[in-house]
Amino acid sequence: MKVIAAVIGMGIGEKHLRAIDGFLGSKVKIICEKNKKKIQMLKKKYPDKIITSNEESIFLDKQINLVSIASYDNYHYNQILKCLRFNKNIIIEKPMCLNSNQLKNIYKLIKKKNIKMTSNLVLRVNALFKDFKKRINKKKVFYIEGDYIYGRKKKLFGWRSNIKQYSLTLGAGVHIIDLINWLTGLKPKAVYATGNKKATKGTVFKKNSMIAMMFEYPKDIIVKITANGAAIFDHFHELKIFSDNQTLVNSKLGSYIVKNGKIKKILANYPDKQNRKKLIHNFIETLIKKNIKPIISIKEQIDLMTICFAVDKSAKLNRKIKINYL
Ligand SMILES: NC(=O)c1ccc[n+]([C@@H]2O[C@H](COP(=O)([O-])OP(=O)(O)OC[C@H]3O[C@@H](n4cnc5c(N)ncnc54)[C@H](O)[C@@H]3O)[C@@H](O)[C@H]2O)c1
Repeated sequence: MKVIAAVIGMGIGEKHLRAIDGFLGSKVKIICEKNKKKIQMLKKKYPDKIITSNEESIFLDKQINLVSIASYDNYHYNQILKCLRFNKNIIIEKPMCLNSNQLKNIYKLIKKKNIKMTSNLVLRVNALFKDFKKRINKKKVFYIEGDYIYGRKKKLFGWRSNIKQYSLTLGAGVHIIDLINWLTGLKPKAVYATGNKKATKGTVFKKNSMIAMMFEYPKDIIVKITANGAAIFDHFHELKIFSDNQTLVNSKLGSYIVKNGKIKKILANYPDKQNRKKLIHNFIETLIKKNIKPIISIKEQIDLMTICFAVDKSAKLNRKIKINYL
């Protein structure tokens, strides 16, 4: 099979395009973008591609077997449904959808189809976190903390302010929740979350711009995660993994392991942006070759969204929520 793809949305979608085009003979045939100015620029930059503002032309094109969805969050659900209806494999930017009814419907429909889907959870291919995954002593971990420090407050005041169900859990926390699930091979049983709007008060962004989540994981592990949209800081994924015999740290001061009374630097790459395309490359391999294991399964993606919705429910109701997986 040769992958013939379309990409919707040319923000981060342009990175998808570059990851897909030419990889194992894959080709991006159609770019869908609704911003007129960008369309003019794209026509010059990509003269060999069809540039359209009409997504229907993607779904009606029988050659297209992969659609990469990098539109605003509120379009993801309907675009996934169309992919399912027209039998297109799917790369979906996070978040997959905006509420649990949408999630249930996607899960119900995708189970009936022979369609593959991946979410672009790029921290799974980061060299430093892959190194952490090798070093983590799963049996002895008792506490993990992870902070998604957004460091780009201004971005919240664009389209993210206009989407009714936008949440920083879905837009930022999702990456750290997924990272910790992947590192531990576990998923949380319950969450208590709380948020505030203090740092964005008086702006157009009306949602919580800071959310703190406390998770109960199996094996008596406590996990604390923050989605910090308002920090005056670099964009950063801070992580500490505490076991009874070692501590792994990624901080602005560097990455290191504390063990046997010594602090040793870990040299693996972070933020390792050049490797982010590996997730899409793995997905294309699952489409083309036999017996390739996806970096993230569909059930893991569905469970991740279930966790995010539980976090937002907990912050809204101000009580602990048991997480009921589909
Ligand atoms: N995985 C990651 O690390 C990561 C990073 C950034 C953004 N994202 C996600 O990617 C998506 C896009 O975010 P972004 O930062 O690229 O935004 P952006 O504003 O930089 O770019 C989005 C582009 O998509 C276009 N667009 C939006 N909806 C469209 C539609 N229905 N049809 C055609 N074009 C459309 C816009 O005109 C814009 O050019 C969001 O869902 C966001 O959460 C993920």
